[in-house]
Amino acid sequence: MTNRRGSRGGAGKNSGRGSKVAYGKNRFGKTKGGKSGAGASILGSHVSVQRTLTVRLKRKKGRTNSQQRWLQRQLNDPYVSEAQRRGLRSRAAFKLMELDQRFELLKRGAKVIDLGAAPGGWSQVAIDVVGETGVVVGIDLSPVAPMEGVIFLEGDFLDPDAPDRLKRELGGLADVVLSDMAAATTGHAPSDHLKIVALAETAIDFAVTVLAPGGGFVAKVLQGGTERTLLTKLRQNFARVIHAKPESSRKESAELYVVAMGFRGVQEDESPK
Ligand SMILES: C[S@@+](CC[C@H](N)C(=O)[O-])C[C@H]1O[C@@H](n2cnc3c(N)ncnc32)[C@H](O)[C@@H]1O
Repeated sequence: MTNRRGSRGGAGKNSGRGSKVAYGKNRFGKTKGGKSGAGASILGSHVSVQRTLTVRLKRKKGRTNSQQRWLQRQLNDPYVSEAQRRGLRSRAAFKLMELDQRFELLKRGAKVIDLGAAPGGWSQVAIDVVGETGVVVGIDLSPVAPMEGVIFLEGDFLDPDAPDRLKRELGGLADVVLSDMAAATTGHAPSDHLKIVALAETAIDFAVTVLAPGGGFVAKVLQGGTERTLLTKLRQNFARVIHAKPESSRKESAELYVVAMGFRGVQEDESPK
């Protein structure tokens, strides 16, 4: 299912333009020499989000231990409440804001692919920065509520036809490929690790066929464990490769992002046949 570019997402707080982050606007106002004061202050305010009180939940019949823990954590997570306050679709949106603040990946007018886009927090940040002259195309296994200016495809990125569907909707080379894809966890750490690395590797294989020279790439990976193939691929294809753990990524989570910049361009043996 495709939500066409320009489709209205409604006026609710989870709709696209209606829920502007105000983050991109500040990026648009960035001076040539670097970030404007306003842009930095808006991001600064999220980084300084403080935990002010601890909500303790009464145990409720029918709630499992893990549901109880999840709810307790949500209620006490300052990023969750700040995301709700700003009308962001996910607390994950802060991770992309932080990565972008640090690495300046997103630019006005850029073409962006968002892999694992649901519920749409990263796309929200991306469209806010790239603006009406940019393009954002997302894909997820789950349907994503419409967002003005963003095209969402519903489907498995690992399906053989997914890369062509994404490229068709993008209509040209991408400036940035983002992947926050994560398979449902099994609780068996080595299997979960393998799955997330496989998703990241597939994302890289796709990125090198769609990125414009100089383009950027971000993918979620997990700490601890070998990602040699992944890093080798990235170093072959990008001028700069860095691991980053945004402050908004939960400390107890092994999640980490690999950020690659300065795509070297399609290599001879990688040209689409
Ligand atoms: C952490 S969530 C992404 C959150 C998103 N960045 C945001 O800010 O709203 C990870 C997403 O990856 C998606 N995903 C996992 N495997 C996928 C696959 N093979 N193809 C497409 N989406 C996938 C999941 O359905 C899930 O919605």
